[in-house]
Amino acid sequence: MGHITAIANQKGGVGKTTTAINLSAALAILEYRVLLIDLDPQANATSGLGITPSSEANIYRCISGQKQLTDILCSTNTPNLDLAPSHIDLVGAEIELPDVEEREYRLARLLEDVRERYDYIFIDCSPSLGILTVNALTAADRVLIPIQCEIFALEGLSKLFHTIEIIRNAYNPHLEVDGVLLSMYDKRLRLAKMISEKIRSGVKEYVYETVIYRNSKITEAPSLGQPVLMYDAACRGSDNFLQLAGEFLRRNPVKSATMVSQ
Ligand SMILES: Nc1ncnc2c1ncn2[C@@H]1O[C@H](COP(=O)(O)OP(=O)(O)OP(=O)(O)O)[C@@H](O)[C@H]1O
Ligand SMILES: [Mg+2]
Repeated sequence: MGHITAIANQKGGVGKTTTAINLSAALAILEYRVLLIDLDPQANATSGLGITPSSEANIYRCISGQKQLTDILCSTNTPNLDLAPSHIDLVGAEIELPDVEEREYRLARLLEDVRERYDYIFIDCSPSLGILTVNALTAADRVLIPIQCEIFALEGLSKLFHTIEIIRNAYNPHLEVDGVLLSMYDKRLRLAKMISEKIRSGVKEYVYETVIYRNSKITEAPSLGQPVLMYDAACRGSDNFLQLAGEFLRRNPVKSATMVSQ
């Protein structure tokens, strides 16, 4: 039974997709079976993994009830990493779902069919707290929150924690916070250091020890449709994501014996 982790933060451009792609890839390279669900109409995780968004096979078709997840899953250029691709059509879900029965549970129901096949399932959320993110948090066991060390980070974080509490009470009592990840960290900036200390003192128990530093290879890799570990395994960004994978595994030990090598 795969662990389901939503990667969420309603703030835009904080490193959600970068974390989703590269943590998924690092675990896949470590021979776990991994599925990444791209639940953002921007489809950045899809193109970042070298898949061209298709208007036929995409997560919107599943959310809207036209297809099963198994109809749209595709393998990627990273061994053991599958993707449920997105497409811009997914914006329609934010408009259509409010009228649908059990709208918050659409993704959770879809995942029931594929959960056994994977050790880890990640959901890359869009920068909003709309119905798609509600679906992700309702389907997930845990939520991983990438955060950029900038001035409004803490305000956004308390709003997200409040939303998680609402979801827990209304739809998913098992939802837990997996952790807060300092991403795009620039150690040359005094402000980043100050804010990271503030975050660590504010939500200390949740903050990952691993920090993802700003690294040009991480920015370049998605334009070539690759996770950074496939693009340049020796760079600092790859090192950071392998370290993150190690810490993630300690927090989320595998539930089943479905590792590829077994
Ligand atoms: N550690 C890093 N070093 C350098 N660039 C990074 C790093 N992490 C992310 N970036 C770059 O920052 C930009 C925003 O990152 P990303 O797309 O992962 O954020 P996001 O939270 O998914 O954004 P959105 O809210 O729009 O979905 C991207 O261009 C990405 O390549
Ligand atoms: Mg994104």
